[in-house]
Amino acid sequence: MPHQKRATEKPRLRPLRRFSENGEERLEILDQTCLPYRKYWQRLESLKEVIFAIQHMQVRGAPLIGVVAAYGLALGLGANASDRSMNAAVAALGATRPTAVNLAWALDRMGRRLYPLPVAERAAAAWREADAIAEEDALQNRAIGEHGLKLLQAILAAKPKSGRDNTLQLMTHCNAGWLATVEHGTALSPVYVGREAGLRAHVWVSETRPRNQGLLTAWELFEAGIPHTLIADNAAGLLLLQGRVDAVIVGADRIAANGDVANKVGTSLKALAARYCGIPFYVAAPGSTLDFAAATGRDIPLEIRDDDEMRFVYGQDKSGERGKLQQINDASAIYNPAFDVTPAECITAIITERGVCAPNAAALAALFPQKAGGDHA
Ligand code: MRU
Repeated sequence: MPHQKRATEKPRLRPLRRFSENGEERLEILDQTCLPYRKYWQRLESLKEVIFAIQHMQVRGAPLIGVVAAYGLALGLGANASDRSMNAAVAALGATRPTAVNLAWALDRMGRRLYPLPVAERAAAAWREADAIAEEDALQNRAIGEHGLKLLQAILAAKPKSGRDNTLQLMTHCNAGWLATVEHGTALSPVYVGREAGLRAHVWVSETRPRNQGLLTAWELFEAGIPHTLIADNAAGLLLLQGRVDAVIVGADRIAANGDVANKVGTSLKALAARYCGIPFYVAAPGSTLDFAAATGRDIPLEIRDDDEMRFVYGQDKSGERGKLQQINDASAIYNPAFDVTPAECITAIITERGVCAPNAAALAALFPQKAGGDHA
């Protein structure tokens, strides 16, 4: 009898698909440059296509970048698995986006697994290792959701009951949902796990200029039926000062040994305002986002992206035609940093798959002793 999906079984929301076809390994990605207008699955068939997809943000989000890079290496090794070719593929993939350390972490793990193998065995082993990284990411994010939910439940329980608002008011920045990972997301994972547990939550979603990843978050939350409101980035301070936010929760692209956090540009402004207002500010990230080699945030490379991301706005008109409109002349100078660093002292706690910890070297090392000791696994 064919497998019947039970009515209660939830579809697995993933931004990538893996399968075999006619004996060939296949990878498809949900092209995030088409969202939220259109769901378009694109097959990636070569190392070159993977490099393009990461650079142009068809896939994005620190954990997802790492996983897709691992698959990119597998595709590259399918064409040529010599040491020389592998060195070149690792270098090219590693240069695509500099801030998210999950990329370097995944490539390092792939290299440690693959270099010792005979050349003829490398491609098949690369697909297996990339699959393992993907499945671990999904499990870790689910664990982040479970740890984070306990924090959110405690905040809601402590919220004065006198007002009309008996809902947890969360604020997030950028997109750290399932689109940015293999499954569940990081910052949004506690919200998704909370929905299963009956948590009443509403999410303030900031737009995240210039790439507008907040629109991806709004789309995810809309699809999940979770109450949310889109705001311009600049409205965040007003809402925090007005006491309309109970907690801020964001993801991370790289966490330094001292607990400083690199994340989407604009994160630090929310953290500074939250600290002034006495509102808890949480960072949710898996161990693969920790970089003990970076002593502080000053050691984290921050990506500066193309001027055109700010010079033009992208959208879709009523007929469904997508296009771009110029919003500033060609001559004005533009500075477009993609990330900023939030100082550890502005962070209340870091939520990982191993539990919640204070943003400092001792607490992070206690949760991840092997990484802190120099083992990158
Ligand atoms: O430039 P992006 O869209 O890749 O940046 C994404 C972020 O900054 C996310 O907050 C971060 O990667 C965490 S994703 C779970």
